[in-house]
Amino acid sequence: MKQLVVFYSRADENYFGGELRYLSTGNTEKIAKMVAEIRGADLFQIEQKVPYAADYNTCIEEAKKDLKENIRPELVSTLESIDGYDEIYIGFPNYWGTMPMAVFTFLEQFDWSGKTIHPFVTHEGSGFGKSMDDLEKVCRGAVFTKGLAISGSSVDHARAKVEGWV
Ligand SMILES: Cc1cc2nc3c(=O)[nH]c(=O)nc-3n(C[C@H](O)[C@H](O)[C@H](O)COP(=O)(O)O)c2cc1C
Repeated sequence: MKQLVVFYSRADENYFGGELRYLSTGNTEKIAKMVAEIRGADLFQIEQKVPYAADYNTCIEEAKKDLKENIRPELVSTLESIDGYDEIYIGFPNYWGTMPMAVFTFLEQFDWSGKTIHPFVTHEGSGFGKSMDDLEKVCRGAVFTKGLAISGSSVDHARAKVEGWV
């Protein structure tokens, strides 16, 4: 059976090794594409209808507000079903210690029982934070394998680590 890689990622201005920089491709997207290529898996990007600001400082405030208010941002599109997949890779950036709220919007649509989930995160120091607890709550009934945490500024040198994990 084919595997699926689902990810959330944001390009634009972000911290990269301690300084703010504009990136044309998000960190998590780079890892997601590596995983999909290595496994020959399908790839799906979770995108918000109203994206967060390109400017980093505005973005972190918007994301903090959504977290505080437990918002479920509307998505550009979704998958009709995940029935065709037993193994699903789920990747996201650490946002305020957990997953971006749009990832909750996506995950809450499906029945995860019996699925195997391989989680991965990119971050700037706090690894998965509490996102694994949240992921396990949302995807009740799924089996989780050991996740992969990669610092955002090291994604361009992470190929060997990703291959080893996959
Ligand atoms: C809104 C927001 C909140 C963040 N919160 C955290 C955090 O709590 N802990 C952390 O280690 N990194 C945090 N970061 C850094 C991101 O997790 C990191 O830069 C990640 O690689 C971004 O992935 P992306 O380029 O795929 O969006 C945050 C970044 C943003 C934009």
